[in-house]
Amino acid sequence: LRSSNGVLTVALESSSQHVSIAGRDVRALSYNGGVPGPTLRVRAGDILNVSLRNGLTDPSNLHVHGLHVSPENNSDNMFVTIEAGDSFDYQYELPNNHAPGVYWYHPHHHGFVADQVFGGLYGAIIVEDPEEIPATRERVLVISDITFDSSGTIPTATAMQKMSGREGELVLVNGQLSPTLNAGAGERERWRVINACTSRFLRLRLDGQQLTLLGIDSGRFESARDVDEVALAPGNRADLLVTGRVGTSTLRALPYDRGATGGMMGGGTSTSVDIALAMLVVADARITELTAIPDQPAPNDLRSVAVTARRQLVFAMGMGGSMRGGMMSATINDRAFDATHIDTTVQFGSVEEWTLTNTSTLDHPLHLHVWPMQIIEQDDRPVESVIWQDVVNIPARSTVRVRVKFDDFSGRTVYHCHVLDHEDAGMMGIIQAL
Ligand code: C2O
Ligand code: CU
Ligand code: CU
Repeated sequence: LRSSNGVLTVALESSSQHVSIAGRDVRALSYNGGVPGPTLRVRAGDILNVSLRNGLTDPSNLHVHGLHVSPENNSDNMFVTIEAGDSFDYQYELPNNHAPGVYWYHPHHHGFVADQVFGGLYGAIIVEDPEEIPATRERVLVISDITFDSSGTIPTATAMQKMSGREGELVLVNGQLSPTLNAGAGERERWRVINACTSRFLRLRLDGQQLTLLGIDSGRFESARDVDEVALAPGNRADLLVTGRVGTSTLRALPYDRGATGGMMGGGTSTSVDIALAMLVVADARITELTAIPDQPAPNDLRSVAVTARRQLVFAMGMGGSMRGGMMSATINDRAFDATHIDTTVQFGSVEEWTLTNTSTLDHPLHLHVWPMQIIEQDDRPVESVIWQDVVNIPARSTVRVRVKFDDFSGRTVYHCHVLDHEDAGMMGIIQAL
């Protein structure tokens, strides 16, 4: 679905549906009957109208992850509740200087986010480039994970799964298990990859093909980078070029150790999975002359900007009593999410430096709504180059320093761990921009 004359108007309806996955008739949650929901294509300066009907049996709402739009009124407002059976009309106005890139949408009603995203509620948003990068074709790859029991329904997450962050047994690409893509040698494809998994980290490899990374989240590298691997925490996206070489390649997610839930718990959570997306590249394509990938202007490097405020955010997890009692705590600065409490107040126009410390034994990918961040230091080591991103992983027992510029929009929104079970458990704070 593409905007025309600067406007895109879409109707979305969330509901529980029968869908076919890996040849099985299963029941999942979906927008407009499909998993994922429709891809929305807009441009900087556009208006995106979404009329959402909540056909679920629980409250829901909509979040446009990564978009730099107002957090107030009928825009990306986290505090809207759409009760079961109700509808809400969202209007998002993208500023004229909105960064192109790959974004996504998903529900964000506190307490239900992990269940609803795991169930299948997500879709891609593409903010198109003002000038296209020459490619033979573009593919949107929404990667998610899900589990079905023998009756084809999604089992309820256990306390243990909520603690570490649930991971599905099946990893899907656009709702399909092990799909096949066809391409020709020498063809260049643009892949827009979204990690829509609730908790799973993806270390993606596609051996045998040439991968060139244009950027992560809303950030673009000045010059595109050839890579062997792309690491995406839950919520991150990659903008990637794949240049076809003859042969069959398999997209796989390598094991990633995101920590374990504490000594007594035992259970590690390293992930290892074969996505088994096969890419078949045949030799007989008309080989197009590949034009150079245009360089991008350097991002405004916040390391060279005066910091107006500094703050500390400490991410912690704990367990009171037994796991079975579901007494886990997931906090930021010792507080669990409270919808009536403003945790952080920032001034319009300020540049802040946030020191993010993770005292727990699990990684926590921090996501800040509306304003992208730049990582400047990782465990006291300065980074080589900065890039705008909206999900920043804070590995277990480490510290990451980021800078954020609050140069646009006022209002209230949130930051949280994008392991969505942790968000639902309270690892989320409210930020108010004045
Ligand atoms: Cu992708 Cu606050 O969410
Ligand atoms: Cu978001
Ligand atoms: Cu977390």
